[in-house]
Amino acid sequence: MNSKKVSIKDVALQSDVSVATVSRILNNTGRFSSKTATRVMKVANDLGYRQNRLAVGLRSKESNTIGILVPDITNEFFSKIVKKCEQFLFSTGYSTIICNTDRSEEREREYYRTLLDHQIDGLIIISTSASQGSKTIETHIPTVFIDRKPSSDNESVVSSDHYEGGRIITEYLLNDGRVPYLIMTKTKSTATIERVKAFKDVLQKRGFKKFNQHIYSLNMTSDKFLDSDKELKDILSTLIERKEKIGIFAINDNIAYMVIRAAKQLDIEVPKTISVIGFDGTSYSEISSPQITTIKQNVDLISKRACELLLAKMQKKNEGKKQNFFKIPVELVVRQSS
Ligand code: RIB
Repeated sequence: MNSKKVSIKDVALQSDVSVATVSRILNNTGRFSSKTATRVMKVANDLGYRQNRLAVGLRSKESNTIGILVPDITNEFFSKIVKKCEQFLFSTGYSTIICNTDRSEEREREYYRTLLDHQIDGLIIISTSASQGSKTIETHIPTVFIDRKPSSDNESVVSSDHYEGGRIITEYLLNDGRVPYLIMTKTKSTATIERVKAFKDVLQKRGFKKFNQHIYSLNMTSDKFLDSDKELKDILSTLIERKEKIGIFAINDNIAYMVIRAAKQLDIEVPKTISVIGFDGTSYSEISSPQITTIKQNVDLISKRACELLLAKMQKKNEGKKQNFFKIPVELVVRQSS
């Protein structure tokens, strides 16, 4: 098996045409007969020729490639968004380069530079650096941020209404006669910050003076949620000492799942003694027993809207417009855990 990389010269030789003709045919530019084009495409396919997108990109200034930066590809919410975006972009003729930044701001910057080197035409970012006290990367190509709000107001963002989701959960718990407690992780993304703000605002409005005592922050980032057992058991053991009808707002479905798991290990009845509400609407909320009440994020609409916005920016259809923030409505899905 000849491992030498097939070049455009090989295709030209085999097709008995010039390199320029092969280039015109592969890039669908200039004049050529359909008979010649069919012959060249067959030869290119038979030889396994792969066009150098980078070279094409440098010439045409377009690579038909979009970069996607994602904090944690193993997180179901993120991976669903990435999958939906990839499918949408592929259907419109774009390839995607997906980079897992592993919740590292430095890696996010590094991958951004790498994607620029690959001549990407546009960028979708679920940003790790869009968090408390951090400055998100400034991009100089068409870009849309998803889920987390960047530092600059001049960016385009598509995100669930995290604040509204937090408000709905907190009001629900209070109306159910529960004393609400929020359990979050060390991940202080802008999405988390908005949910926590809603929780605090509702408690304050409902007369809770020491609402900070109703917030527990686990000593791990969201991707390490499977290690939260011990901390959660300590928190739940403390809470049930208070002989209150307790309601837990878990910052996402992964944490909600772990809260229920810890409750079971402590023989605490869910929802009788402790009710639990999550956020995201991932499969954890459905396969858990009891099933988890949660705020469902509309992954399909978030992804579709983000891609449409990016393509419009790339085609300069909304130049000069104030960069926009699309807030996608959330939905409370009531199940057994509450
Ligand atoms: O599970 C990942 C969480 O972080 C989701 O709630 C999503 O909104 C992201 O911000």
